[in-house]
Amino acid sequence: MSNVHYFTNQPIKHKYRISFNLVNTTINLLSSDGVFSKKRIDTGTKVLIEGILKNISIHDDAEVLDLGCGYGVIGITIAKLNPKARVTMVDINPVAIKLTRENIKLNQVENAIVIRSNLYSQLRNKKFDFIISNPPLAAGYKVIFPLIEGAKDHLKEKGRIIIVLRKGVNAIPNKMKEVFGNVELLYKRAGYRVFQSIKIS
Ligand SMILES: C[S@@+](CC[C@H](N)C(=O)[O-])C[C@H]1O[C@@H](n2cnc3c(N)ncnc32)[C@H](O)[C@@H]1O
Repeated sequence: MSNVHYFTNQPIKHKYRISFNLVNTTINLLSSDGVFSKKRIDTGTKVLIEGILKNISIHDDAEVLDLGCGYGVIGITIAKLNPKARVTMVDINPVAIKLTRENIKLNQVENAIVIRSNLYSQLRNKKFDFIISNPPLAAGYKVIFPLIEGAKDHLKEKGRIIIVLRKGVNAIPNKMKEVFGNVELLYKRAGYRVFQSIKIS
């Protein structure tokens, strides 16, 4: 599978404005060519956020990682709704990093940071309570499997990895079960499934 669109390094030319309303909060986002789902929030991303809001309680001081943040929609939403949590967003794409940095400022979010990182490469000793991802399926299992395997080292005890997938992508929940010994379907809508695994030593 091609992942060329994840690696563009062209200057940001045209910006799109996206507004996202939920739980009495409006998130305003800038987007551009060269990032995933540039003109509207991806349906899988919306289903993931809904699944988290309906099923997961993010405690004060929780450390949250948005892995493959794009222009920052998941991490900024979680940071805005949970002002006492600390959110780290990472992406390999420099355009995504630039946009996320702008979107953090635009939404006046003070509890989120963004780092350019190939998966966990810049997060060596960091551990999280939640690792959340709409994963880069276009990059293939050679990226997705290390994303799941690496989560085990980067989750605290009882920490959770939560990911969204299209219905029928069974190899990934199977991999979660293999790595963590558990996987649960948390939420489903519109042909998408939200799965979680919990780190239990
Ligand atoms: C499906 S998109 C999701 C983007 C955003 N979270 C959203 O929901 O709109 C996956 C993201 O993973 C990023 N990505 C791809 N390979 C990566 C890697 N090796 N390390 C970190 N991020 C990666 C892509 O650049 C892309 O932004």
